[in-house]
Amino acid sequence: MILIKSPEEIEVMREGGGILTEILSVVKDEVRAGIPTQVLEDLVVAEMERRGVTPSFKGYQGYPASVCVSINDEVVHGIPGQRTVGDGDVVSIDLGVYHKGFHTDAAVSVGVGAISKRAASLIDVTHGCLIEGVKHARAGNYVGDISLAIQRYVEIAGFSVVREYTGHGVGRALHEEPQVPNFAGNGKGPMLRVGMTLAIEPMVTTGDWRTKVEKNNWTVTTRDGSLSAHFEHTIAITDGEPVVVA
Ligand code: MF3
Ligand code: CO
Repeated sequence: MILIKSPEEIEVMREGGGILTEILSVVKDEVRAGIPTQVLEDLVVAEMERRGVTPSFKGYQGYPASVCVSINDEVVHGIPGQRTVGDGDVVSIDLGVYHKGFHTDAAVSVGVGAISKRAASLIDVTHGCLIEGVKHARAGNYVGDISLAIQRYVEIAGFSVVREYTGHGVGRALHEEPQVPNFAGNGKGPMLRVGMTLAIEPMVTTGDWRTKVEKNNWTVTTRDGSLSAHFEHTIAITDGEPVVVA
């Protein structure tokens, strides 16, 4: 069932989403060559405590951390630890905040130091396709309009969209209906209605779209070893422009 949020509920999500956006920006600014990714986890924990919010991801289906840090061929669900960030890396940071009964979910990718032209282009295209998808998130459109807009934008640029993971409804649960794929499937999916809140999260690769899961049972990597980037916004469907919640 797709849950419709009241204007009051969306306001609460905007509050949590604002906090998420702040924390994500603090963390993004700390990403530099030489730091172990655990530093980013510790920073997230401290920033969340300071602001009185809790991590959506910690313990979710057994996920062991508060943030996902995915580097280069890692697509999503990288677990922070002793691995150090390298010069030229593409680092994706995915964060979920739980605040006053509601989750919000957002991600960014950053290039570290001197990145290749291809890596820079991947980051631009992945951000660009998210913005393109969000533009189509309007009442009366279908979920599939978002998906198609994202896929077109990515494939015209010569990159691939990951198919085995999708965006999702978000609210009282981190993952709600509907799924929001980043590619056009068979049907056009459900119609978008005022009060729906969605996490739109394209994952893009420079090579093939196929992925595998690493031995830690979490980290998703590209099968062909190609680079991947990930951007995510939580948005609300209104009777006008979509509202970016986080
Ligand atoms: N943004 C991702 C998602 O919505 C992050 C989930 S990580 C997990 O699926 F740890 F919570 F699983
Ligand atoms: Co998500």
